[in-house]
Amino acid sequence: MKKILIINGPNLNLLGVREPVVYGKETLGDINEAIALLCDQTGIACDFFQSNTEGEIIDKIHTVLTDYDGCIINAGALTHYSYAVRDAIASVNKPFVEVHLSNLYTREEFRHKSVLTAVCKGLICGFGKDSYLLAVRAILNLI
Ligand code: DQA
Repeated sequence: MKKILIINGPNLNLLGVREPVVYGKETLGDINEAIALLCDQTGIACDFFQSNTEGEIIDKIHTVLTDYDGCIINAGALTHYSYAVRDAIASVNKPFVEVHLSNLYTREEFRHKSVLTAVCKGLICGFGKDSYLLAVRAILNLI
């Protein structure tokens, strides 16, 4: 059975209470439940990982090399400046799909640039929880 990893970065553990007008009222647990259901329905396995620490996220990205067929990543604010996360993704020859709950391009200018998109297969943003579910659909065709 194919297996994917879903990584969430800094502050995404606070979904539900964090700026609900921007990120919605659902918790990360609610979102992960919906992803797990979709993965189950489509016949793939999934694991979830969230960390507020850049190094832990990098270590987890490295595990995709040996343990997973692909990865969906919302790196939070690391998206905009972490060349270390970018290089970790580039080091792993497996498909990555970048997701964001919010539409980066309607927000502050610093969010308009992602240093990760160039090393991911594609970017889905602006659809809240559905960004993740669309990413599962996309990665199914890549693994
Ligand atoms: C985010 C967008 C980022 O700019 C922000 O730093 C986040 C969440 C999103 O999902 O919309 O933490 O990745």
